[in-house]
Parts: sequence; C-alpha cells; structure tokens
Amino acid sequence: MIPVLTLDGPSGVGKGTVASIVAQKLNWHQLDSGAIYRAFAIAAMDCSIGMDNLDGLLELASKLDLEFKSNSEHAPLSVYLDGVDITTKLRTEKTATIASKYAQLAPLRKVLIIKQKQFQKPPGLVADGRDMGTVVFPDAPFKVFLTADSEERARRRLKQLQVDGNTGNISHTLAKVRKRDERDKNRAHSPLKPAKDALIIDTTNLTIDEVISKVMAIIEV
Ligand code: DC
Repeated sequence: MIPVLTLDGPSGVGKGTVASIVAQKLNWHQLDSGAIYRAFAIAAMDCSIGMDNLDGLLELASKLDLEFKSNSEHAPLSVYLDGVDITTKLRTEKTATIASKYAQLAPLRKVLIIKQKQFQKPPGLVADGRDMGTVVFPDAPFKVFLTADSEERARRRLKQLQVDGNTGNISHTLAKVRKRDERDKNRAHSPLKPAKDALIIDTTNLTIDEVISKVMAIIEV
C-alpha cells in the first residue's frame, strides 16, 4: 500500500505551503487537488460551458490535459493546461470562486477524483484539498485537518495573491474567503470537514515551521 498524507482545510489556511515542504522532506509526490478544480474552471470558462450543461462539463473533465511541473524548491508547482502555462491565472480569487461553484457538482467530482487517485505513486503522496481524507483517500494512514481564524486566513491569502502578482485588499479578500468556505462546507457532496481520524491543527498562532513539525511528528512515529 503506497502511503498517503492527506492535508485538508479551508482556503488560505496554508495547506499548499505545508504540503510542498512536507512532500520535499519526505521525497513524496504531491497532489494539489484545488489546482485541478481551478484548472477545470479555467477550461470551462475558455470553452464557455456553463453549470447547466452537465454533459459538456463531464466531457471536458474527462479530456482535461493537465501537467504539473516543479521549478524550484518549495515553490508552488507550475500548472499547464493543453500545454499552456496557466499558473498565474490559476491562483486568482476569481478562478477560485468559479472552481468552488463547479466543485458542487457530484458527477463532475467523480470524474476529477479519478485523476486525483492517479497521483498515488511510490514512495508516497502528500495530497491537499477539502475531501482528501474523507472521500478521495479514506484509507490514508496519515490525515491532518488544518484550521485558522478567517481573518488570519484572509491575511495569508492576500499575501499569497500579492506574491503571485495579483491584487486585492483585506476586506474584499476576507469576504471572498468566507463566502467560498460557506459554499465548500455546506455543499451536498464531499463537503469540507475533517475526517474522523484526522489530527486537527489550529494554525492561527503557529509559524509554518511549527505546523510542519506537528505534521512530520505523525509520520515519523
Ligand atoms: O484549495 P483551493 O483554494 O485551490 O481550491 C479551490 C476550490 O476548489 C475550493 O474552493 C473548492 C474546490 N475544491 C474542492 O471542492 N475539493 C478539493 N479537494 C479541492 C478544491
């Protein structure tokens, strides 16, 4: 059985940063499942396929040509859709909001989950998202759920947007983060929630290094 560490939690909690550092330390593969939903949202927008055209969305999802490339240590993975680098567009709050809307559709999730499971390769996988521990990798031996106050998450999210060259202000970002969390938590299928066997870490007052130590501790026992 190839080991999987699942890292779930709301937007802006720092899952991506923790996932890439832990994956590097363990020398395991990494799955940024949010990037799959975001890339799908970009593809659907590019083809003007709306939420009401489920057949069109499913066909698009089954053909989604995605590639993840790592360029430097600890940097987020670059994402290519049909051979085109979409990394900057992928990280905008607009793309995230649209991804969260499409992510409510159960049949679409089913197709995208097949792609996510393919990331489970030796020697191991670090997978971050909303339903990694509950739905996609329910048998994972290591499960973590990260939380933090929404104000702190909005601050982190804004910082990340600025690093990526995008703009935003704190009140707008906070409103977006809260709205997206509500939708992700309250949807009927695979809602954002901790797996019963997940270690819950409140990161509000923790540094990244402290979070990493807590996550590594469950793997190194
Ligand atoms: O993790 P992220 O912010 O990149 O995710 C963008 C959106 O994609 C998120 O608001 C909801 C959806 N998503 C999901 O439904 N399930 C996942 N496992 C990951 C993301």
